[in-house]
Amino acid sequence: MYEHLKQQPADKILALIQMYGEDPRDQKIDLGVGVYKNAEGVTPVMRAVKAAEQRIWETQDSKAYTGLAGDPAYSDAMIGLILGTVVPRGNIAAVATPGGTGACRQAFELIRMANPSARVFVSNPTWPNHLSILNYLGIETVLYRYFDSESRGVDFDGMMEDLKAAQAGDVVLLHGCCHNPTGANLNLVQWQEVINLINERGLIAMIDIAYQGFGDGLEEDTQGVRLVASSVKECLIAASCSKNFGVYRERTGLLMAITADAGQTAVLQGNLAFLNRQNYSFPPDHGARVVTTILTDDALRADWMNELEEIRLSMLGLRQQLADELQRLSGSDRFGFIAEHRGMFSRLGAAPELVEKLRADHGIYMVGDSRLNIAGLNAKTIPILANAIVEVGI
Ligand SMILES: Cc1ncc(COP(=O)(O)O)c(C=O)c1O
Repeated sequence: MYEHLKQQPADKILALIQMYGEDPRDQKIDLGVGVYKNAEGVTPVMRAVKAAEQRIWETQDSKAYTGLAGDPAYSDAMIGLILGTVVPRGNIAAVATPGGTGACRQAFELIRMANPSARVFVSNPTWPNHLSILNYLGIETVLYRYFDSESRGVDFDGMMEDLKAAQAGDVVLLHGCCHNPTGANLNLVQWQEVINLINERGLIAMIDIAYQGFGDGLEEDTQGVRLVASSVKECLIAASCSKNFGVYRERTGLLMAITADAGQTAVLQGNLAFLNRQNYSFPPDHGARVVTTILTDDALRADWMNELEEIRLSMLGLRQQLADELQRLSGSDRFGFIAEHRGMFSRLGAAPELVEKLRADHGIYMVGDSRLNIAGLNAKTIPILANAIVEVGI
């Protein structure tokens, strides 16, 4: 049977990591992989996570299965974190999932189960795994314009024009905040316009939120999500704790299915649990328990929020320093967008040949679409990167 298998295409980011590892140059800089790194280049375990793990170690007396939806306390805590109180709890079905990827996968499966002819409209560009999972599941995808390569902001007119091709029942996938890979985000007025279009045309909103707290603040980053969740009839939200709790390998995510008709919630909940059962039975518990422990304890929550805020501010600082240095070296304001973007990534909008030149001539590694991980920078590497960007002529 194995002879029928074809080689899968190499994952571009993993291939980049390997090339970086094999590069003998001392001055090489890794701006490719999408994990947060501090000034020492370390992806730390957050203080509150360590404390919660210790508490769990001391008090946990069983590792018997939880429920198919995970621990309800985790769903409650995450719903509070993401939505506050804008949607009554009785209108939300939720399950724990293995990371944000698991949440997206389950959301797509639910869409296919509920409406096999639904198409999913995704931003161009988007996180590549969205497209890859949708293709794998045989769900038709339609790209909508998103990134304006001149201004490096959102091409909102193009986006709205393309979304007008969506028909009743089609799904519009939006990034909750900190758009990956561009760093360019909708403002609240634009969110409202998208919501109006969704409601006028009978579309379904799906939001992927993987960087809450990395953009404008923990609450601020949910403004668009909350507006959507409280204004549309049906909405799916896939959330990841990988970045904002730094629990990447624990695989901690949540899928919410929101309905304006509370009479549907029980059936939705049953279907989400069913999907968990089919794919992996019980979702992972450790990361979810850590997150719940933190969010439900005042002291741990405050400490986590402080550390997350330090991380957010350090990334904003790096953005500003890079934009300033580029302004100084190039004598132009054309790199101001780097300070305007939010989250861990910025798309430079450079041609692949120039990205390759940065790697070959300067040992600077970023994804081929010119996405750079801001958290991969520090005070020492910013001038090196800025010099290289100007030298290769971006
Ligand atoms: C936009 C987006 N969604 C979802 C994820 C999923 O993250 P994870 O499965 O590691 O929680 C990521 C991670 O890179 C992402 O960038």
